[in-house]
Amino acid sequence: MNTFINNLPKAELHLHIEGTFEPELMFKIAQRNGIKLSQKSVAELKESYNFNNLQEFLDIYYAGANVLIHEQDFYDLTWAYLQKAHEQNIVHTEIFFDPQTHTSRGIEFRTVINGIQNALDDGKTKMGITSKLIPNFLRHLDEEDAIRTFNEALKYRDIITGFGLDSSEVGNPPAKFQQVFEMVKAEGFLTVAHAGEEGSAQYIWDALKLLNVSRIDHGIRAADDLLLIEELEKTQVPLTVCPLSNLKLQVVKNISELPIKTMLQQNIMVTINSDDPAYFGGYINENYKAVAEAFNFNKSDILKLAENSFNASFLDNVAKTKWLVKLRDYYNKF
Ligand code: HPA
Ligand code: ZN
Repeated sequence: MNTFINNLPKAELHLHIEGTFEPELMFKIAQRNGIKLSQKSVAELKESYNFNNLQEFLDIYYAGANVLIHEQDFYDLTWAYLQKAHEQNIVHTEIFFDPQTHTSRGIEFRTVINGIQNALDDGKTKMGITSKLIPNFLRHLDEEDAIRTFNEALKYRDIITGFGLDSSEVGNPPAKFQQVFEMVKAEGFLTVAHAGEEGSAQYIWDALKLLNVSRIDHGIRAADDLLLIEELEKTQVPLTVCPLSNLKLQVVKNISELPIKTMLQQNIMVTINSDDPAYFGGYINENYKAVAEAFNFNKSDILKLAENSFNASFLDNVAKTKWLVKLRDYYNKF
C-alpha cells in the first residue's frame, strides 16, 4: 500500500506555504537575516510543536513566519516545498499564503508574492508541477484589513486564482467577511474558506450560503449535520480534509474518528491534504498512509481519494481528464 501511495500522482489543495517552513530552513534564514528565534536549536523548536488546539499552533506558526523578510526567503521556502512535493508525486498544487502576516510587519506584498511565484514558475519548468495561488484573509483581523489586502492583491490578478479565509475560526464567522468575498467574486475570482475545523457545521453552511465558496477547507464538522451532508452530496462542493492536522491540533484523538470513510460512502467529494506539513509531522503521503491505515482502505479507496483531488482542483477539464486517465492507468498496472 505504501508504494502504491508513494507513486500515485496527486493534487494538493490545502497547503499553507508558511506551514511548510521546516525548522532547519527557519534557522538558516533567521541567521541570514540576523534574527534571533526564541528557541536555541532545531531540536528545541521541534519540541515546542505540541499543540492543544488551533490557536496554540497559530501563535507558533506566525512567530516562525516572522523570519521571512526578502523575496529570496519566500522563494527558498516555496522551493523547498516543491522539492518535497515532487518527491511525493504531487503533480499539481494549490497554495495558500497569508499576505497580512507579512504586510503587517512591513514586508511588501510584492516581495511575498514574487518570491513564491518565481519558485512556482521554476517548479513548472524544472519539475513539471502545475500550481495555483490562493491568498487567504486572516479572519482574526477585521474585514477592512481584508479589503485593503484584496485591493493590493488586484495588481497581481494574473497570477491569483482565488481567495480564502483562514486563522482562528471560532468567534470569527464567515458573516464577518461577506462584503470582501462579494468584491472578490465580482472581480471574477474563485473563493474557498476554512470552515468546520474547530467551528460548528453552521460555519460551513455560512461559508456556502454567505460566501458562495467553491470548496470548504477542513469541513469535517459537516458530519454533525445530516442536512448539510445532503447538501454537500447534491452540490459536490469538495472538502479539503487534513488528517494529521486534525490529529495534531486535537480536533480528534484518532484519525479513525474523522468522517472520511462515511463521507466517501455518502458520495461527498472528500480530498486528503497536508495543511501545514512542517508542523504536523507529515506531508501528503504520510496523510494518505495514516488514512489508509485508520480505515483499512484498499487501493481502490485510495485511487478514489486521488481522483477526487483532481476533480476538486481548479484545473481545467482537459488537465483533469489527463490526470484521471493517468491515474486509472497507474491503478490498472500496479
Ligand atoms: N486553520 C486555520 N488557519 C490556518 C490553518 C488551519 O488549519 N493552517 C494555517 N492557518
Ligand atoms: Zn489550513
